[in-house]
Order: sequence, then C-alpha cells, then structure tokens
Amino acid sequence: MAGRFSFLRSALKGTNPTAPFSRSHSTAAPQSAIARAASSNRTAVALSAVSVGTFAWYSALYGNPLLPEAKAESAADHGLHPPAYPWSHKGPFETFDHAAPTLIWNGFNSIRRGYQVYREVCSTCHSLDRIAWRNLVGVSHNVNEVKTMAEEIEYEDGPDAEGQMFQRPGKLSDYMPAPYANEEAARAGNAGALPPDLSLISKARHGGADYVYSLLTGYVDPPPGVEIREGLNYNPYFPGGAIGMARVLYDGLVEYDDGTPATTSQMAKDVVTFLSWASEPELDERKKMGLQATIILTSLLAMSIWVKKFKWGPLKARKLVYNPPATKH
Ligand code: HEC
Repeated sequence: MAGRFSFLRSALKGTNPTAPFSRSHSTAAPQSAIARAASSNRTAVALSAVSVGTFAWYSALYGNPLLPEAKAESAADHGLHPPAYPWSHKGPFETFDHAAPTLIWNGFNSIRRGYQVYREVCSTCHSLDRIAWRNLVGVSHNVNEVKTMAEEIEYEDGPDAEGQMFQRPGKLSDYMPAPYANEEAARAGNAGALPPDLSLISKARHGGADYVYSLLTGYVDPPPGVEIREGLNYNPYFPGGAIGMARVLYDGLVEYDDGTPATTSQMAKDVVTFLSWASEPELDERKKMGLQATIILTSLLAMSIWVKKFKWGPLKARKLVYNPPATKH
C-alpha cells in the first residue's frame, strides 16, 4: 500500500522519488556521483587550474588580453568622430523636410535645395545611379518641373528601325545621368581617386548623415607635422586625413530659388538631407508603418489581456477543497 501511495504522490508532484536529483522531495534518495563531485573542493581546484591554464595558453598564442595592445595605427586612421546633428528626420516620429510640392506650389524644402546643390556642384564628379527622375516627383518638385529637367538631358536610346542608336530627351523613367562613362574615366579625371556613387552614401559610411556633413564642412589646414601629398587635401573626418576631393562648398556658391542664404553649412545640410532621402526614400513610409504596427499590436495585446482575465477569472477564483475520507480504526 505504501508503495502505491508514494507513486501517487510523486505523480502529483511530477517527480520520481527514486530519481537521482530529487533529494529535496525524497530524503531517502541516494546522493548522485555528479552532485557529490560538484560539491567537493577537488573539482573547484581542477576547474580553476583549467581556466588559468587556458588563459595562459591563449596569452602565449595571442598575447595577454588584459594588457593594452600596441597597434601600428593611430586614432587619425579612423577619422575624427562626427558630432550628432539634429537632423529634421532623425526621431522616430519625424519625417524628411519636404512639404509635398503640387502643380501650383513648388514646396520649397531642404530636399529640393539639396537636389539643387547636388545638380550644380556634386554631379560634376559624382553619379547618383539609383535615383530616377520620377522619384523626385511629389518629393522635391512637381511633375512638370521634373519633366522639364529630364528633357534638358540627352539620353541614348535605340536601336531604331534601321538598327541605329539615337539620342532623345530624357523621360521621367530615366535615371540620373552619370558624369563619367566608366570608372577609369572617373579616376583619370580625379587624379586617380574614384568619386563614389552617392545614391547610398549616407548609409554606406559610418556616421551616416553626420559624417557626410562633417566631411563637407570640415576642410581645414593640416596641423603642424602632418604632410599631405600633392593632389590630396586634409580633412580630419576622412579616415586617414588625406582625401582626394577638395573642398567644394563655399558661401554663396549656389543661388537658391527660395532665397535661402546659401552658406556653406546651409548647402551641406541641404545636400546631406537630399542624399539621406536618396539612400532611404522609404523612411517616412517605414516610420508610419512602424507606428501603425505599434498601435495595432499594443491594442491586440491589451485585448488579449482582457480576454485572458475574462477566461481565467472563474478558474482563478475557484476554491478546491479536499475532504479526506474519515479513517476507520
Ligand atoms: C571635383 C570633383 C568632386 C566634386 C565636385 C565633389 N566630389 Fe565628392 N569626391 C570626389 C572624389 C575624387 C572623391 C574620392 C576621394 C578619395 O577617395 O580620396 C570624393 C569622395 C566623396 C565622398 C566619400 C568620402 C568617403 O568617406 O569615402 C563623399 C561623401 C562626397 N565625395 C560627397 C560629395 C558631395 C556631397 C559633393 C557635392 C557637394 C561632392 N562630393 C562634390 C570628387 C568630387
């Protein structure tokens, strides 16, 4: 009888009284070999020896990880860390600075001014492969403006019925024209340095928009002792300090349509806003969807908590009473 009851008890508790690790439930169970070993000093000493030994082995192979390492590089090799600027599109609830232009109002905004800086300054050296004219519609310009801008540029098309390639004015579906035909031409025009495509630049560089802004506004004279090779320029934000691109932005370089004073920092801010948009045109939509998902999921969570409370209420409030049968003597 006693055996049957102990089986029942263990079934209720979900443990087997004869299992090695059930000492808390059944004092009668024998102490297992592992449990005994773990509690002995010998194991602690052996484990310490193993950890000291592996540490010594690692140090012999790779050097002591606790000592500062001597590196053949300086902080300047990584470039100066750019400060964090308060971009208008930075926060989770912020959008790009673009008031959607319409046919009757051309919505002056930072992306539009930034496009102007790209077109008038950067596009002489940098391509913008991933942006088509149509992408600008409703973002920085209205459709008629974009059509006019595209038509000013000749694109090669064809072949025609005679098998000849021909030139035609640009269309909304064309991509931004590149300044050079190929990489070799680009390098040849820039003393061997390749101006990178700017479509994804604000995502492709550590520091993103802050870095590109700091780079454009950060040209200074090299500090004493720093030698800059002929044809390179000193910029502390560029890893290594010597960059193939010279300072390109100077106060008053462009004339903004909306009359904004074109200072160096204003142009840098606008072109970086434009390039951030080019890297991530879906940013506004992404944040909007994120907010929608948060609202829907928190509402569903709140509802499921109420449903859970409703369903479990009767079970949680129920009291179970066990009256053992009176023992007969
Ligand atoms: C005269 C040609 C020229 C013009 C104009 C020019 N760049 Fe450059 N740019 C270069 C070259 C060349 C490099 C490559 C530098 C190197 O690798 O040393 C470069 C590199 C860059 C880089 C990459 C830096 C890095 O971390 O690799 C950025 C960003 C950049 N330019 C932005 C701009 C912007 C924005 C403008 C317009 C305001 C502009 N550039 C105008 C020639 C130019």
